[in-house]
Amino acid sequence: MSQDFSFAVHAADGAARKGEIITPRGTIRTPAFMPVGTAATVKAMFPQDVRATGADILLGNVYHLMLRPGAERVARLGGLHEFMRWPFPILTDSGGFQVMSLAKLRKLDESGVTFQSHIDGSRHHLSPERSMEIQHLLGSDIQMQFDECVRLPCSDEEAERAMRLSLRWAERSRKAFHEEKGRAVFGIVQGGANKALRVESARALSDMDFHGLAVGGLAVGEPQAVMLDMLDTTVPHLPQNKPRYLMGVGAPDDIVEAVARGIDMFDCVMPTRAGRHGLAYTRFGKINIKNSRHAEDARSLDPASICPAARDYSRAYLHHLVKAGEILGMMLLTQANVAYYQELMAGLRNAISEGRLIDFIAETRAQWADGEK
Ligand code: GUN
Repeated sequence: MSQDFSFAVHAADGAARKGEIITPRGTIRTPAFMPVGTAATVKAMFPQDVRATGADILLGNVYHLMLRPGAERVARLGGLHEFMRWPFPILTDSGGFQVMSLAKLRKLDESGVTFQSHIDGSRHHLSPERSMEIQHLLGSDIQMQFDECVRLPCSDEEAERAMRLSLRWAERSRKAFHEEKGRAVFGIVQGGANKALRVESARALSDMDFHGLAVGGLAVGEPQAVMLDMLDTTVPHLPQNKPRYLMGVGAPDDIVEAVARGIDMFDCVMPTRAGRHGLAYTRFGKINIKNSRHAEDARSLDPASICPAARDYSRAYLHHLVKAGEILGMMLLTQANVAYYQELMAGLRNAISEGRLIDFIAETRAQWADGEK
């Protein structure tokens, strides 16, 4: 691999930035949305269809892949990109967050987390060093430090303990990262809903030699206003010249607010999970396709969409497929949702380069509110 990892901001509008992350496996246009491919698949989508929606990068998960099929096995089979037939960039989450939300019988100490698999009850240990080794075995382009994320609300003492532990794990993760041309490792800001802790975490991580910085520990039970308040506090302490990634966010409205505050990257299960549950994200807001008012609606989700799933199939047909439990219903809605998210990101990028982000957000909101009329 000859290409280095690099990031450049090409336009700014207020705090919002439009830019590009360059990696050997491809360029990531920012602000970027990363569809979630937890178990080496974006559920219900072919990789080429994910690409066709405009996605430049996917997210994979250490936690799921270490348990099944195993990181060493993926490595023997040529790495995650080859395994899942996605040759473009992949970011991997480090596992700490998923262990805390999915695994059974967790025990956390300075060394890492011991836990039981949610699949078969087998015992495993994850540490900063093992997480970085797994991300290296997978062949991940952007690797995340191992961290501890606390749910909100939580006490300041608990937020401070987890933030300081995450800083120590950040140093260990950075050291354990396999330096390879074109590969990157990001630190993760923690600190709960406490502004002073957030600032301290952001500053300490900015002084470590990470290629990008993530804001973690948000969208974990707090109101949107708290999340935005934490971004207002945190983002000014992150380096201007490195990508900023808001983990696990979010709904379209969370994304536009975070972009306006200077966030460059997002991931969320929302478009894919919603698609498997009969919910469509569109320019006209969220549509519950199971509702009987769609039973004879011959209109598509969005006749102007570049996505065939959103453009070429009637709402009546989608309604029928979902009501009948047909797999194609989930596939079409997932594709339409991921395509809408990518269309929203493209709209945000254009608006930033034209210096009209505020107007774009107002128009987008008005259309969501106006619904399907
Ligand atoms: N995904 C969503 N939030 C987080 C977080 O705080 N840490 C990690 N590692 N992943 C996340």
